[in-house]
Amino acid sequence: MGLHGLRASFETRFALLRMTKRADGKPTRQGEERPSGRVSNRARTLSATILALTISACSPAPKPAPTPAQAALLKPADTRLAGLYETSCKACHAIPESGAPMVHDTAAWAPRLKQGMPLLVDHTILGFNAMPAGGQCATCTPADLEALIRFMADLEESAG
Ligand code: HEC
Repeated sequence: MGLHGLRASFETRFALLRMTKRADGKPTRQGEERPSGRVSNRARTLSATILALTISACSPAPKPAPTPAQAALLKPADTRLAGLYETSCKACHAIPESGAPMVHDTAAWAPRLKQGMPLLVDHTILGFNAMPAGGQCATCTPADLEALIRFMADLEESAG
């Protein structure tokens, strides 16, 4: 870069700096701020706060993982699924020591869900590391397994 280019880039940077300051609503020179300016600054802060609150209200709040006692009470709202769950998945997915992602522990399920539901169902059917094939549910159809995974990952209505 020649001397001219260097100077040009300096000028651009200064121009950007000036723009940034103005966008911040900070006065560029002392004494420039008038009472009316202060009101609009406050209004800007207020609308930014409202916007932030609106955004945080829309995104689901991260739920803490259930305690083992709470996990033991969770089951799918559907009675048939609840029966399947209680005689299979629950034996591990409600017991932290099993190493299985805990029921309703959304943080533990998030990276698993990223792999996509079809792969999760396949892993359950075939078995996955310490998880036995079928998740110990001999009568579960692939649709049942998907519903059970959705329940455990807290994507479904559940009872308890
Ligand atoms: C005998 C214990 C056991 C049972 C029963 C069991 N699981 Fe698992 N499951 C595990 C363990 C352990 C893991 C974690 C394996 C790993 O990531 O190494 C796991 C992981 C999973 C995963 C994540 C797989 C992945 O690709 O990340 C799914 C989905 C899953 N189980 C579904 C089920 C379903 C549905 C049932 C009931 C039908 C069930 N499991 C029953 C122990 C079990």
